[in-house]
Amino acid sequence: MNILLVGSGGREHAFAWKLSQSARCSKLYCAPGNAGIEEQAECVPIKVSEIDKIVSFAEEKNIELVVVGPEAPLVDGLADALSAHGIKVFGPSAKAAQLEGSKGFMKDLCAKYGIPSAKYGRFKTVEEARKFIEETGAPIVVKTDGLAAGKGVIICETVEQAMDAVRGMLEGGMFGDAGKEVVIEEFLEGEEVSYFALADGKTILPLTSAQDHKRVGDGDTGLNTGGMGAYSPAHFVTPDLEKQIIEKLIEPTIAGMAAEGCPFTGVLFAGLMVKDGKATLLEYNVRFGDPECQPLMMRLEGDLVEILDAAAQGRLDEVKDQVSWSDDTTLCVVMAADGYPGAYEKGTHISGFEEANAVEGVYVFHAGTAENEFGDIVNVGGRVLGVTAKGATIAEAQKRAYEAVDKIDWPEGFYRRDIGWRAL
Ligand code: AMP
Ligand code: GLY
Repeated sequence: MNILLVGSGGREHAFAWKLSQSARCSKLYCAPGNAGIEEQAECVPIKVSEIDKIVSFAEEKNIELVVVGPEAPLVDGLADALSAHGIKVFGPSAKAAQLEGSKGFMKDLCAKYGIPSAKYGRFKTVEEARKFIEETGAPIVVKTDGLAAGKGVIICETVEQAMDAVRGMLEGGMFGDAGKEVVIEEFLEGEEVSYFALADGKTILPLTSAQDHKRVGDGDTGLNTGGMGAYSPAHFVTPDLEKQIIEKLIEPTIAGMAAEGCPFTGVLFAGLMVKDGKATLLEYNVRFGDPECQPLMMRLEGDLVEILDAAAQGRLDEVKDQVSWSDDTTLCVVMAADGYPGAYEKGTHISGFEEANAVEGVYVFHAGTAENEFGDIVNVGGRVLGVTAKGATIAEAQKRAYEAVDKIDWPEGFYRRDIGWRAL
């Protein structure tokens, strides 16, 4: 098959690595890709937002499957545009992508179908929001309804802070159109975990769990980021908890989406809070996590092309027994540019890849990298590498990952030294 992968992050490099191992993959393209993805795919300079160009390219190259990494083009209708041209796509329609694209949509669906999620309200005016905030009390969570590049969630310690957040979004235009409506939620305590499941509109294929490290600093301190590291499986997800997640959350969601006339095809990524053995939904994403995808792809046993192609064609039931997971633990340490998640320098040199990749069980996934005119690898983004390792235990995976991190020569980069600490 000719396959086109859409995206340019560490998640997409992990996809490229796994897709290219399939006997069914004859030619892999990636739009726009990164310096690491060049190893597995032919990168083409088309941005993920250029839907018309992606469709034309897919037609021109006889692409038989398009795999979409990030959420924004899905919310903007990339899957619909491809389907309209008869091109198979792994990823939900714009309507189904509302599960991530509109927090209000997601919350209303949960309420209607009895999916456990935080108590909430949807508001377009400050006065209506004030009543809810005062009644609920702090801590309380204020969210933009729409996509805000992972920044539209504000955890407020006081009622006053919550009111400031609401004013900033609804009146101050802090997040543009994404913040024209807000969702306000009760604050949930517990331990966070990510769970992933594939769906083809009707059938569900549960995958596995992972745990992300969202804060920039060791011990989960400092600013929120897109994710500084992840490991899989998450240490506290027992078979019982997994069964609960599938039966109480994933199944009613996929059935509810079909009943609402927007069947969901793609990967459903549930962000969950677990307390006293009970899982409550924080958010849904309509894509794999980044960096969660890197350890997931390294643990996956089975043919990713076969699996995603089956999902895209509504025949997931045929591949259920083809998905299995290594008993090993996999762990990814993100290396980021100094200053991230704030401002950072671009164009700094990185080397040591060969030495790092030579460490047993390790592969270095690229995210924000490019090759400059002299053939050197430089950073072009904030999160730059995902050094990922496999080990019989999480301790072994962690040891291998950091051994490889030490081989990377990048004075302008930094990383957390404690990825996996909760499990250890
Ligand atoms: P989201 O983008 O909705 O996942 O929110 C980003 C982060 O905010 C989550 O990973 C949680 O750490 C936190 N968060 C979101 N909603 C809540 C909530 N209702 N209670 C506590 N923490 C939350
Ligand atoms: N790592 C969190 C996310 O991809 O949303």
